[in-house]
Amino acid sequence: MSALNNKRILIGISGGIAAYKTAEFARALIKNGAEVRVCMTKAATEFITPLTLQALTGNPVHSELLDPAAEAAMGHIELARWADLIMIAPASADLIARLANGHANDLLSTICLATETPIHIAPAMNRLMWSNAATQNNCKTLSQRGYTLHGPAEGEQACGETGAGRMLEAQELADIVIAVFNDEVQSKPLFGKTVLITAGPTREAIDPVRYISNRSSGKMGYAIAEAAQSLGADVQLVSGPVALEAPNKVTRSLVESASQMHDKTMNLAESADIFIATAAVADYSPANIADQKIKKEVDAENVNKNPELTLALQTNKDILSDVSHAFPNLFSVGFAAETENLIKNAQAKLQRKKLDMIVANQVGENKGFDKDTNQIEIIWHDGQLSLPEQDKKLLAIELMKVITERFSSSTLQR
Ligand code: PMT
Repeated sequence: MSALNNKRILIGISGGIAAYKTAEFARALIKNGAEVRVCMTKAATEFITPLTLQALTGNPVHSELLDPAAEAAMGHIELARWADLIMIAPASADLIARLANGHANDLLSTICLATETPIHIAPAMNRLMWSNAATQNNCKTLSQRGYTLHGPAEGEQACGETGAGRMLEAQELADIVIAVFNDEVQSKPLFGKTVLITAGPTREAIDPVRYISNRSSGKMGYAIAEAAQSLGADVQLVSGPVALEAPNKVTRSLVESASQMHDKTMNLAESADIFIATAAVADYSPANIADQKIKKEVDAENVNKNPELTLALQTNKDILSDVSHAFPNLFSVGFAAETENLIKNAQAKLQRKKLDMIVANQVGENKGFDKDTNQIEIIWHDGQLSLPEQDKKLLAIELMKVITERFSSSTLQR
């Protein structure tokens, strides 16, 4: 995976000869997987054309604060929210002064005022302008407000003088952006851990066109996959047939039957740290799958000669139990879908399936399955926590926090 996959970088360009380096900077970011948009001040367009940057990034370049066409496509507030990181390169003495004074008199300064996104700046100017107390004070003000400054470097300048004021090179700036995102990921609590999740229903074939299944939509499992990924984990999602897209940056394996889910999960469990079984796996499957579609046998009057059909079922393997027994060091979390005796049945499953934690949810009567919300009781060996009914995505974030806490303290004890 590229270092900047799915990252959105907004490059701000102000007027300065170093603006030519920005084309190379944009290319380096894109090569590393980033999506790049560019916002230029009017002065910047004197040094490099918007067309060059539009061609390189594949996106229209933004420069006008009051441009109805641009606002209709992506307004300045949306642009301010869109970015994961803003890099202003080059940042001229004038732009630095306007930012330090909170001006909003062009698109770039307005975006900087209207964003919570981290802003990085790469100053570039004549050495005397750089060392001037006014510029130094402005830079200090910006640093105190959370801006991160990179450079300038020392060397020969376009004006013929030598000293500090050169903008960092394009590759140096790209390496800084990559390092920022690497540090961010590495500081997440599940960085370097693999979380394996089963989700959705299974389908147990009766004949080539019919199957036994259940009402699981996969929403709960997919929300947990997304939450685990946002905590820095590598997520492996083994999913039965559902109508959901794979969450961003989650590796999904699609399976159909309980037996396929069993085999895929057992394979992946070997390299996992945490296993969360949210799938509604069929406990039984037809003992024999008919080769051809099962047909009614009717007489001349269209009366069914065999009005009753009995399907022989066999027990499927228990994926959760097999994983937790085969990999005792794995932190295993089960779900218990119960229509009665919620806590008692869940506690029994916690013991029987040799789990570290179980999540009990009441199902039936329009609860649990195929709903956007859920209410859960999290039970572990020396504790219990109740989470009220809420959207499954929010619930998944809360649940993943608890799993991460319990997992961390269990690895300390192991
Ligand atoms: O998918 P949604 O529409 O969002 O609904 C979510 C859900 C209600 C399906 C989910 O929250 C849930 O409760 N999943 C577990 C459903 C279930 O099969 O529960 P169970 O009590 O029968 O099984 C207990 C545990 O053993 C579960 O973790 C299950 O994944 C696992 N199991 C069961 C049987 C089997 N053969 N293999 C298993 O791994």
